[in-house]
Amino acid sequence: MMKTVETYNGIPIPAFIYGTAWKKEATADLVQLAVASGFSAIDTANQLIHYNEVQVGEALRTLAQQGPKRESLFLQTKFTPVSGQGHRTPYDPMVTITKQVEQSFESSLQHLHTEYVDSYVLHGPYSRHGLGREDWEVWTTLEEIYQSGKVKMIGISNVTADQLRLLCEKAAVKPMVVQNRCYATLGWDDEIREICQTHDIVYQGFSLLTANREALTHPAIQAIAQRLNVGPAQIIFRFAQQIGMIPLTGTTNKRHMKEDLQIEGIELTNEEVLLIEKIGL
Ligand SMILES: NC(=O)c1ccc[n+]([C@@H]2O[C@H](COP(=O)([O-])OP(=O)(O)OC[C@H]3O[C@@H](n4cnc5c(N)ncnc54)[C@H](OP(=O)(O)O)[C@@H]3O)[C@@H](O)[C@H]2O)c1
Repeated sequence: MMKTVETYNGIPIPAFIYGTAWKKEATADLVQLAVASGFSAIDTANQLIHYNEVQVGEALRTLAQQGPKRESLFLQTKFTPVSGQGHRTPYDPMVTITKQVEQSFESSLQHLHTEYVDSYVLHGPYSRHGLGREDWEVWTTLEEIYQSGKVKMIGISNVTADQLRLLCEKAAVKPMVVQNRCYATLGWDDEIREICQTHDIVYQGFSLLTANREALTHPAIQAIAQRLNVGPAQIIFRFAQQIGMIPLTGTTNKRHMKEDLQIEGIELTNEEVLLIEKIGL
Protein backbone atom coordinates (compact mmCIF):
# COMPACT_ATOMS: atom_id res chain seq x y z
CA MET A 1 0.00 0.00 0.00
CA MET A 2 1.30 3.43 -0.95
CA LYS A 3 1.83 5.94 1.87
CA THR A 4 -0.67 8.80 2.10
CA VAL A 5 -0.65 12.47 3.04
CA GLU A 6 -3.63 13.80 5.00
CA THR A 7 -5.49 17.02 4.19
CA TYR A 8 -6.62 19.41 6.95
CA ASN A 9 -10.14 17.95 6.71
CA GLY A 10 -8.78 14.46 7.33
CA ILE A 11 -8.78 12.91 3.84
CA PRO A 12 -5.78 10.78 2.82
CA ILE A 13 -4.18 11.40 -0.58
CA PRO A 14 -1.79 8.77 -2.02
CA ALA A 15 1.78 10.09 -1.90
CA PHE A 16 2.31 9.79 -5.68
CA ILE A 17 -0.21 10.72 -8.39
CA TYR A 18 -0.42 9.44 -11.96
CA GLY A 19 -1.13 12.35 -14.34
CA THR A 20 -3.04 11.82 -17.59
CA ALA A 21 -2.29 14.99 -19.58
CA TRP A 22 -1.34 14.59 -23.26
CA LYS A 23 -2.04 10.85 -23.36
CA LYS A 24 -4.77 11.29 -25.99
CA GLU A 25 -6.09 7.95 -27.31
CA ALA A 26 -3.63 6.02 -25.12
CA THR A 27 -5.22 7.41 -21.93
CA ALA A 28 -7.42 4.40 -21.08
CA ASP A 29 -4.63 1.85 -21.57
CA LEU A 30 -2.14 3.96 -19.61
CA VAL A 31 -4.51 4.49 -16.68
CA GLN A 32 -5.08 0.74 -16.51
CA LEU A 33 -1.35 0.12 -16.68
CA ALA A 34 -0.68 2.73 -13.98
CA VAL A 35 -3.22 1.16 -11.62
CA ALA A 36 -1.94 -2.35 -12.38
CA SER A 37 1.58 -1.07 -11.62
CA GLY A 38 0.49 0.22 -8.22
CA PHE A 39 -0.73 3.82 -8.62
CA SER A 40 -3.97 4.52 -6.80
CA ALA A 41 -4.33 8.26 -7.53
CA ILE A 42 -5.26 9.60 -10.97
CA ASP A 43 -5.21 13.23 -12.07
CA THR A 44 -7.25 14.46 -15.03
CA ALA A 45 -9.26 17.52 -16.14
CA ASN A 46 -12.41 18.26 -18.08
CA GLN A 47 -10.30 20.03 -20.71
CA LEU A 48 -10.43 18.50 -24.17
CA ILE A 49 -7.23 20.02 -25.56
CA HIS A 50 -4.91 18.40 -23.02
CA TYR A 51 -6.82 15.57 -21.34
CA ASN A 52 -9.11 12.71 -22.28
CA GLU A 53 -11.38 12.44 -19.24
CA VAL A 54 -13.76 10.13 -21.11
CA GLN A 55 -10.97 7.58 -21.55
CA VAL A 56 -10.01 7.89 -17.87
CA GLY A 57 -13.63 6.89 -17.15
CA GLU A 58 -13.43 3.97 -19.58
CA ALA A 59 -10.32 2.70 -17.80
CA LEU A 60 -12.06 3.00 -14.44
CA ARG A 61 -15.02 1.03 -15.70
CA THR A 62 -12.76 -1.74 -17.00
CA LEU A 63 -10.78 -1.76 -13.75
CA ALA A 64 -13.96 -2.00 -11.66
CA GLN A 65 -14.92 -5.13 -13.62
CA GLN A 66 -11.48 -6.62 -13.00
CA GLY A 67 -11.13 -5.88 -9.29
CA PRO A 68 -10.06 -2.41 -8.12
CA LYS A 69 -13.22 -0.71 -6.93
CA ARG A 70 -13.93 3.02 -7.18
CA GLU A 71 -13.36 3.53 -3.42
CA SER A 72 -9.83 2.17 -3.66
CA LEU A 73 -8.87 4.91 -6.12
CA PHE A 74 -8.28 8.61 -5.56
CA LEU A 75 -9.72 10.61 -8.45
CA GLN A 76 -8.84 14.22 -9.07
CA THR A 77 -10.28 16.34 -11.86
CA LYS A 78 -10.47 20.04 -12.69
CA PHE A 79 -12.73 22.82 -13.82
CA THR A 80 -11.01 24.66 -16.67
CA PRO A 81 -12.18 28.21 -17.44
CA VAL A 82 -13.15 29.06 -21.05
CA SER A 83 -9.76 30.73 -21.71
CA GLY A 84 -8.02 27.37 -21.16
CA GLN A 85 -10.42 25.31 -23.25
CA GLY A 86 -9.51 25.73 -26.92
CA HIS A 87 -12.45 25.75 -29.33
CA ARG A 88 -14.51 22.99 -27.66
CA THR A 89 -15.85 23.51 -24.14
CA PRO A 90 -17.40 20.70 -22.10
CA TYR A 91 -20.06 23.18 -20.88
CA ASP A 92 -22.08 26.06 -22.31
CA PRO A 93 -19.65 29.02 -22.41
CA MET A 94 -22.52 31.52 -22.62
CA VAL A 95 -24.08 30.77 -19.22
CA THR A 96 -22.92 32.22 -15.87
CA ILE A 97 -19.64 30.99 -14.42
CA THR A 98 -21.56 29.24 -11.62
CA LYS A 99 -23.56 27.30 -14.21
CA GLN A 100 -20.39 26.55 -16.22
CA VAL A 101 -18.78 24.98 -13.15
CA GLU A 102 -21.92 23.01 -12.34
CA GLN A 103 -22.21 21.72 -15.92
CA SER A 104 -18.51 20.88 -16.09
CA PHE A 105 -18.67 19.02 -12.78
CA GLU A 106 -21.75 17.02 -13.79
CA SER A 107 -20.12 16.09 -17.09
CA SER A 108 -16.95 15.00 -15.21
CA LEU A 109 -19.09 12.69 -13.06
CA GLN A 110 -20.57 11.22 -16.22
CA HIS A 111 -17.20 10.84 -17.95
CA LEU A 112 -15.72 9.16 -14.90
CA HIS A 113 -18.76 6.93 -14.19
CA THR A 114 -18.78 8.00 -10.58
CA GLU A 115 -21.03 9.75 -8.08
CA TYR A 116 -18.21 11.67 -6.42
CA VAL A 117 -14.66 12.82 -7.03
CA ASP A 118 -12.04 12.85 -4.35
CA SER A 119 -10.51 16.16 -5.34
CA TYR A 120 -11.92 18.98 -7.49
CA VAL A 121 -9.49 21.64 -8.60
CA LEU A 122 -9.78 25.05 -10.27
CA HIS A 123 -7.32 24.67 -13.17
CA GLY A 124 -6.16 28.26 -12.87
CA PRO A 125 -7.44 31.65 -11.72
CA TYR A 126 -9.01 34.00 -14.30
CA SER A 127 -6.93 36.92 -13.07
CA ARG A 128 -3.20 37.28 -13.66
CA HIS A 129 -2.77 39.19 -10.41
CA GLY A 130 -5.00 39.05 -7.39
CA LEU A 131 -8.43 37.44 -7.52
CA GLY A 132 -11.27 39.01 -9.47
CA ARG A 133 -15.04 38.61 -9.53
CA GLU A 134 -14.83 35.50 -11.78
CA ASP A 135 -12.36 33.79 -9.44
CA TRP A 136 -14.61 34.34 -6.45
CA GLU A 137 -17.65 33.13 -8.38
CA VAL A 138 -15.83 29.90 -9.31
CA TRP A 139 -14.48 29.41 -5.81
CA THR A 140 -17.88 29.91 -4.19
CA THR A 141 -19.32 27.31 -6.57
CA LEU A 142 -16.51 24.89 -5.70
CA GLU A 143 -17.30 25.48 -2.04
CA GLU A 144 -20.96 24.66 -2.70
CA ILE A 145 -20.04 21.45 -4.50
CA TYR A 146 -17.77 20.57 -1.56
CA GLN A 147 -20.58 21.27 0.93
CA SER A 148 -22.88 18.99 -1.12
CA GLY A 149 -20.56 16.07 -0.32
CA LYS A 150 -19.89 15.22 -3.98
CA VAL A 151 -16.19 16.10 -3.62
CA LYS A 152 -13.99 15.36 -0.63
CA MET A 153 -11.68 18.32 -1.15
CA ILE A 154 -11.26 21.38 -3.35
CA GLY A 155 -8.10 22.93 -4.64
CA ILE A 156 -6.46 25.39 -6.97
CA SER A 157 -3.78 25.04 -9.62
CA ASN A 158 -1.37 27.41 -11.35
CA VAL A 159 -1.75 29.87 -8.51
CA THR A 160 0.62 32.68 -7.49
CA ALA A 161 1.68 33.36 -3.91
CA ASP A 162 -0.44 36.55 -3.72
CA GLN A 163 -3.51 34.75 -5.02
CA LEU A 164 -3.09 31.87 -2.62
CA ARG A 165 -2.65 34.23 0.36
CA LEU A 166 -5.84 36.06 -0.65
CA LEU A 167 -7.78 32.84 -1.06
CA CYS A 168 -6.65 31.56 2.34
CA GLU A 169 -7.55 34.87 3.94
CA LYS A 170 -11.00 35.37 2.42
CA ALA A 171 -12.47 32.03 1.34
CA ALA A 172 -15.13 30.34 3.46
CA VAL A 173 -13.42 27.02 2.67
CA LYS A 174 -9.63 27.22 2.22
CA PRO A 175 -8.17 24.99 -0.50
CA MET A 176 -7.10 21.56 0.74
CA VAL A 177 -4.70 21.16 -2.22
CA VAL A 178 -2.56 23.31 -4.48
CA GLN A 179 -1.19 21.93 -7.75
CA ASN A 180 1.64 23.88 -9.38
CA ARG A 181 4.44 23.44 -11.89
CA CYS A 182 7.53 23.10 -9.80
CA TYR A 183 10.83 24.65 -10.91
CA ALA A 184 14.15 24.04 -9.20
CA THR A 185 15.11 27.55 -10.31
CA LEU A 186 12.32 28.91 -8.07
CA GLY A 187 13.46 26.89 -5.06
CA TRP A 188 10.95 24.20 -6.06
CA ASP A 189 8.13 26.74 -5.63
CA ASP A 190 9.26 27.47 -2.06
CA GLU A 191 7.15 30.61 -1.57
CA ILE A 192 3.92 28.75 -2.36
CA ARG A 193 4.99 25.68 -0.38
CA GLU A 194 5.58 27.89 2.64
CA ILE A 195 2.04 29.30 2.43
CA CYS A 196 0.75 25.74 2.06
CA GLN A 197 2.64 24.73 5.17
CA THR A 198 1.23 27.66 7.15
CA HIS A 199 -2.33 26.77 6.15
CA ASP A 200 -1.94 22.98 6.23
CA ILE A 201 -2.59 22.70 2.48
CA VAL A 202 -1.22 19.71 0.56
CA TYR A 203 1.14 20.79 -2.23
CA GLN A 204 1.16 18.75 -5.45
CA GLY A 205 4.07 19.36 -7.84
CA PHE A 206 3.85 18.72 -11.58
CA SER A 207 6.36 18.67 -14.44
CA LEU A 208 9.05 17.89 -11.90
CA LEU A 209 11.09 16.27 -14.67
CA THR A 210 10.11 18.23 -17.76
CA ALA A 211 10.55 21.60 -16.01
CA ASN A 212 13.90 20.65 -14.47
CA ARG A 213 16.12 19.17 -17.18
CA GLU A 214 19.21 20.90 -15.79
CA ALA A 215 18.63 19.49 -12.33
CA LEU A 216 18.22 16.00 -13.80
CA THR A 217 21.66 16.13 -15.38
CA HIS A 218 23.32 17.98 -12.48
CA PRO A 219 26.44 16.13 -11.25
CA ALA A 220 25.26 16.27 -7.62
CA ILE A 221 21.98 14.55 -8.47
CA GLN A 222 23.82 12.04 -10.66
CA ALA A 223 26.11 11.25 -7.71
CA ILE A 224 23.19 10.73 -5.30
CA ALA A 225 21.48 8.52 -7.92
CA GLN A 226 24.64 6.47 -8.17
CA ARG A 227 24.92 6.14 -4.38
CA LEU A 228 21.36 4.81 -4.18
CA ASN A 229 21.63 2.82 -7.41
CA VAL A 230 18.57 4.49 -8.97
CA GLY A 231 17.97 7.02 -11.78
CA PRO A 232 17.97 10.84 -11.43
CA ALA A 233 14.18 10.98 -11.98
CA GLN A 234 13.69 8.81 -8.91
CA ILE A 235 15.92 11.15 -6.88
CA ILE A 236 13.82 14.17 -7.88
CA PHE A 237 10.53 12.42 -7.07
CA ARG A 238 11.80 11.12 -3.71
CA PHE A 239 13.24 14.54 -2.86
CA ALA A 240 9.78 16.00 -3.58
CA GLN A 241 8.16 13.54 -1.19
CA GLN A 242 10.77 14.11 1.51
CA ILE A 243 10.13 17.86 1.51
CA GLY A 244 6.40 17.20 1.95
CA MET A 245 5.21 17.46 -1.62
CA ILE A 246 3.04 15.00 -3.56
CA PRO A 247 4.67 14.51 -6.96
CA LEU A 248 2.77 13.82 -10.18
CA THR A 249 4.34 11.64 -12.82
CA GLY A 250 3.33 11.78 -16.45
CA THR A 251 5.21 8.74 -17.69
CA THR A 252 3.89 6.55 -20.52
CA ASN A 253 6.43 3.83 -19.86
CA LYS A 254 5.82 0.66 -17.84
CA ARG A 255 9.40 0.48 -16.56
CA HIS A 256 9.33 4.14 -15.48
CA MET A 257 6.05 3.53 -13.64
CA LYS A 258 7.66 0.71 -11.68
CA GLU A 259 10.81 2.75 -10.99
CA ASP A 260 8.76 5.75 -9.89
CA LEU A 261 6.81 3.59 -7.43
CA GLN A 262 9.98 2.15 -5.95
CA ILE A 263 11.08 5.52 -4.56
CA GLU A 264 9.39 4.97 -1.22
CA GLY A 265 12.14 2.46 -0.56
CA ILE A 266 14.96 4.99 -0.87
CA GLU A 267 15.97 7.72 1.56
CA LEU A 268 18.00 10.84 0.86
CA THR A 269 20.09 12.19 3.73
CA ASN A 270 19.27 15.60 5.22
CA GLU A 271 22.38 17.00 3.56
CA GLU A 272 21.26 15.67 0.17
CA VAL A 273 17.78 17.18 0.61
CA LEU A 274 19.29 20.57 1.54
CA LEU A 275 21.62 20.41 -1.45
CA ILE A 276 18.81 19.61 -3.92
CA GLU A 277 16.59 22.35 -2.41
CA LYS A 278 19.15 24.92 -3.55
CA ILE A 279 20.35 23.23 -6.72
CA GLY A 280 18.62 25.56 -9.21
CA LEU A 281 19.13 28.84 -7.36
N1 LIG B 1 -2.50 21.69 -13.45
C1 LIG B 1 -1.89 21.89 -14.59
O1 LIG B 1 -2.00 22.93 -15.24
C2 LIG B 1 -0.98 20.81 -15.12
C3 LIG B 1 -0.10 21.09 -16.17
C4 LIG B 1 0.75 20.08 -16.61
C5 LIG B 1 0.70 18.83 -16.03
N2 LIG B 1 -0.19 18.57 -15.02
C6 LIG B 1 -0.32 17.21 -14.44
O2 LIG B 1 0.95 16.70 -14.11
C7 LIG B 1 1.16 15.45 -14.77
C8 LIG B 1 2.62 15.22 -15.01
O3 LIG B 1 3.16 16.21 -15.85
P1 LIG B 1 4.37 15.93 -16.83
O4 LIG B 1 3.96 14.97 -17.88
O5 LIG B 1 4.91 17.25 -17.25
O6 LIG B 1 5.32 15.16 -15.82
P2 LIG B 1 6.79 14.69 -15.74
O7 LIG B 1 6.68 13.44 -14.95
O8 LIG B 1 7.65 15.81 -15.28
O9 LIG B 1 7.28 14.34 -17.21
C9 LIG B 1 7.02 13.18 -17.87
C10 LIG B 1 8.08 13.01 -18.95
O10 LIG B 1 9.31 12.59 -18.33
C11 LIG B 1 9.75 11.39 -18.94
N3 LIG B 1 10.45 10.47 -18.00
C12 LIG B 1 11.71 10.03 -18.07
N4 LIG B 1 12.04 9.21 -17.05
C13 LIG B 1 10.96 9.13 -16.29
C14 LIG B 1 10.65 8.47 -15.09
N5 LIG B 1 11.50 7.67 -14.45
N6 LIG B 1 9.44 8.65 -14.59
C15 LIG B 1 8.55 9.42 -15.19
N7 LIG B 1 8.76 10.05 -16.35
C16 LIG B 1 9.96 9.93 -16.89
C17 LIG B 1 8.50 10.76 -19.49
O11 LIG B 1 8.86 9.92 -20.55
P3 LIG B 1 8.24 8.43 -20.63
O12 LIG B 1 6.82 8.60 -21.00
O13 LIG B 1 9.05 7.80 -21.70
O14 LIG B 1 8.45 7.80 -19.30
C18 LIG B 1 7.69 11.95 -19.94
O15 LIG B 1 8.10 12.39 -21.21
C19 LIG B 1 0.30 15.58 -16.03
O16 LIG B 1 0.00 14.36 -16.62
C20 LIG B 1 -0.93 16.26 -15.45
O17 LIG B 1 -1.75 15.32 -14.81
C21 LIG B 1 -1.01 19.54 -14.55
